Amino acid sequence: MKSARTNAPSPVAAGDWPPGLPLDTERLVLRPFRESDFADVHEYASDPEVTRHLRWGPSAAQETLSFLRHAIAGVRTADTSQFHLAVVERKSARVRGGLSLLERAPGLVEIGYCFARPVWGLGYATEAVRSAVRFAGVRFPGADLFGLVTPGNPASERVLLRAGFTPALDASPYATWMTGVCSTARVFRQRSRPPA
Ligand SMILES: CC(C)(COP(=O)(O)OP(=O)(O)OC[C@H]1O[C@@H](n2cnc3c(N)ncnc32)[C@H](O)[C@@H]1OP(=O)(O)O)[C@@H](O)C(=O)NCCC(=O)NCCS
Repeated sequence: MKSARTNAPSPVAAGDWPPGLPLDTERLVLRPFRESDFADVHEYASDPEVTRHLRWGPSAAQETLSFLRHAIAGVRTADTSQFHLAVVERKSARVRGGLSLLERAPGLVEIGYCFARPVWGLGYATEAVRSAVRFAGVRFPGADLFGLVTPGNPASERVLLRAGFTPALDASPYATWMTGVCSTARVFRQRSRPPA
């Protein structure tokens, strides 16, 4: 059974992030990245098991740093079409994963995520994706929200299904992003809706 939500403050400093962030869930906080996240991020970004189903990685240290700088710059320039979020585990205050919402074209938003291996199977991805879907409903109302799942990644498929995605009947609108390991991916999608 999941632990009761604590009233502990989010393990993040008050910051200059866009409206609606950070996202608070029972066990996690989703907030913009910081350069000081490097060690935690590099731990999972350099793990070939974590990046096996992703279009990037495993990353060298310089690639992790470049990613962090790119993600942080997006927030500083108030680019509201690209959200790269650190997933912070409340109890350890460590970044244990990353989740991105990227507006690929007007009204077409891709969700992607990955987590450090030691926290797989705890339900964190489901918790984070559900929260991101709610945020997308506010930030990208009416958008086509999609995720790509490579063959052999049933855990990710399960996460998306539980977060309200369904298999796309026609993959052609997403073909531009079905590259590399994602060339044979299944597409899961849902219409982004403001919370009721
Ligand atoms: C895929 C990933 C995000 C899942 O994260 P997670 O926090 O372990 O996910 P959750 O615990 O929320 O849920 C995983 C679900 O998949 C199930 N699952 C795990 N491995 C499975 C497998 N081999 N076959 C079928 N189901 C599986 C789990 O049982 C769980 O479902 P349940 O709670 O109904 O039992 C994580 O493994 C990861 O980061 N992988 C590497 C990066 C990646 O693949 N990202 C997604 C790209 S599309």
